[in-house]
Amino acid sequence: MDDWYRECGKVADLIEREVPDWYRSRTFAGIIGDIKALSPKKASSLIARKKGLGTRYAYLYLAKGVDGGKGYQACACEALRSVLKDSRRDAIRGRILDVGCAVGVTAGVLDLEGVAGFDLFPDLLRAARQVDSRIGRNNTYVVADMTREWPFRSVFDTVVCGLVCHHLREQNDILAFFTSASRVLVTGGSLIITLPSGSVSTTRQLEEIAGAIEGFGFRCDGELTGMVVSTDGVRSLFWMFVLLFTKTSDSRAAVFIHPRFGFPDVRTPVSREQKGERVRSSEKNPRSVRHTAFRLLSLEELYSSFPESVFVFRNVRTIADSEDRDRSNQGGTCPMPEPCRGA
Ligand SMILES: C[S@@+](CC[C@H](N)C(=O)[O-])C[C@H]1O[C@@H](n2cnc3c(N)ncnc32)[C@H](O)[C@@H]1O
Repeated sequence: MDDWYRECGKVADLIEREVPDWYRSRTFAGIIGDIKALSPKKASSLIARKKGLGTRYAYLYLAKGVDGGKGYQACACEALRSVLKDSRRDAIRGRILDVGCAVGVTAGVLDLEGVAGFDLFPDLLRAARQVDSRIGRNNTYVVADMTREWPFRSVFDTVVCGLVCHHLREQNDILAFFTSASRVLVTGGSLIITLPSGSVSTTRQLEEIAGAIEGFGFRCDGELTGMVVSTDGVRSLFWMFVLLFTKTSDSRAAVFIHPRFGFPDVRTPVSREQKGERVRSSEKNPRSVRHTAFRLLSLEELYSSFPESVFVFRNVRTIADSEDRDRSNQGGTCPMPEPCRGA
């Protein structure tokens, strides 16, 4: 993994020279913001036509999203790795498909080889190939749209989709995604999804999402589905969601999609007041911190301990801090996080 981070940094330095001056000021959020506002087809056409923009996107991905393990994307993968390792469950196994693989983050951080990955943006995949060839890894990357039919046959034991599903907006796209995931997975295979911190607001919504996905022929693993927080004691907090499923049957959701299911409806913060109560996730420069220890609060644990919690930073901090206290035997019981107004 450290080799992979090192080579990401070197590829970032190399491709930075290819970024035309007029795109150098574009930020990660700026590029993503533009892309999010467009349909996948228009977004990929934009990146394909404006070549330097795609290179800028790839550069920012390697330099900020990965950033030697300090970027959110790399941290999310490390959190996933930690959760799966701690559980000793063989969830990522066999033939692996990485949906929305970007620069090959999942394969890179989890030290996987022979992974098939796809993403909407060719420049990210080009960077992924560059990094892989420098460390002698053999993964396959193709350009494809997760909201269209996937160009793969049903041979995968694991489908990983890290920090991507929150981009699904329309019911048709949600349907296309989960139907394709079900189609390419063998029965008994794993579907592993991570969602970024701002994509789910409440425990109940997390449970609802898990329930809706079950409608596509999956069984949710309640022990390995939940919220992951960093517990390495630093004041820069990291948190995200992980959802793990086993494919049990072919998708039935073509017949029925839960009417309340839709990722854009469950974003944090859920109201202005709650936004006002949000506290910063870090006191100093968060990029100077590399998180190494994580704790999964499983869906079952979250639901029994924090049923009405809103996942704003303050609540997560309370949960994480109580974990720290419990570990160092300085504290007693885990206090309930103070619910935000309107929760
Ligand atoms: C936040 S990144 C996550 C990358 C990586 N999976 C990880 O865990 O760090 C989201 C990725 O999804 C890709 N993406 C967004 N919409 C997509 C679509 N419709 N089809 C395929 N990939 C898509 C983006 O290009 C981007 O690389």
